[in-house]
Amino acid sequence: MTALTTSFLGRQHATPLLNASGVWCSTATELDALVAAGAGGVVTKSCTLAPRAGNPEPRYVATRLGSINSMGLPNEGFAYYLDWAAAHADGPTPILLSVAGLTVADNLAILAAVRAAGLRVPVELNLSCPNVPGKPQLAYDLDALDATLAAVTAEHDLPFGLKLPPYFDLVHFDEAAAVLNTYPLVAFLTCINSIGNGLVIDVETESVVIRPKDGFGGIGGDYVLPTALANVNAFHRRCPDKQIVGCGGVSTGEHVFAHLLAGASLVQVGTALHREGPGLLPRLADELAALLRRKGYTTVDEVRGRLRTL
Ligand code: DHB
Repeated sequence: MTALTTSFLGRQHATPLLNASGVWCSTATELDALVAAGAGGVVTKSCTLAPRAGNPEPRYVATRLGSINSMGLPNEGFAYYLDWAAAHADGPTPILLSVAGLTVADNLAILAAVRAAGLRVPVELNLSCPNVPGKPQLAYDLDALDATLAAVTAEHDLPFGLKLPPYFDLVHFDEAAAVLNTYPLVAFLTCINSIGNGLVIDVETESVVIRPKDGFGGIGGDYVLPTALANVNAFHRRCPDKQIVGCGGVSTGEHVFAHLLAGASLVQVGTALHREGPGLLPRLADELAALLRRKGYTTVDEVRGRLRTL
């Protein structure tokens, strides 16, 4: 047992570090590279029933402090990721299958295929994609969230997780948690997706920097770390029976440690992984291990939720 080993949904992860869905996970080549780099877990690209080309380019731009994207769910279709997950389900690297059907019926069809395949890979159901024109982020409509979870859990009898958007008001944390806590099958919450519909402007060209949606897109990277930590901690406090997966603003071992303090069991990396590639994951693991040693911790589990208030 190394200091970084941790248990999630009953499986051992060698480290708490995963990719964020969307980054380095669209093809088998990319997914295999994450496994080869020693990722503590791998999340597949959010998938739809049919393959999609996504939005027109440019659709991802890195900035000094992070990134903006409006990819529009380019993916190979759910069967591709189901096949990859099935081939790796018994390997040493735990996998999460990210699912982002365009309708509830699509999500039910994909989940039915997961059950039919007998796949022992948890689903991260993405209810927070901000980038499909005309489709609002479902998890901002708590009645729609409730109805979707009722429909899903009426058929899907396996523990699963939700990829949530950031919430920005304590009342919204309370209201969202109240809905989520009525569904014990919702075993984990991944907080957060990008901050939706930001706008990056290039002052020299006096232009937006991505083509879709007049330049509006999801914001990641340094911009979002405090929002991510707030959402991790808010749901850790309010949903004691669920595990929290932290995502947002991580590019150093200290950032990982902050997510653990806030209550994360696992931590995902998006913008920084896009910038540095899979070699980021062993670097973060080394930085986290050194920080734990310096602080006298022997396991990541001791850190989880230890955040002090004043
Ligand atoms: C995309 C972006 C997201 O933030 C997400 O959750 C799913 C898909 C995308 O644009 O492809």
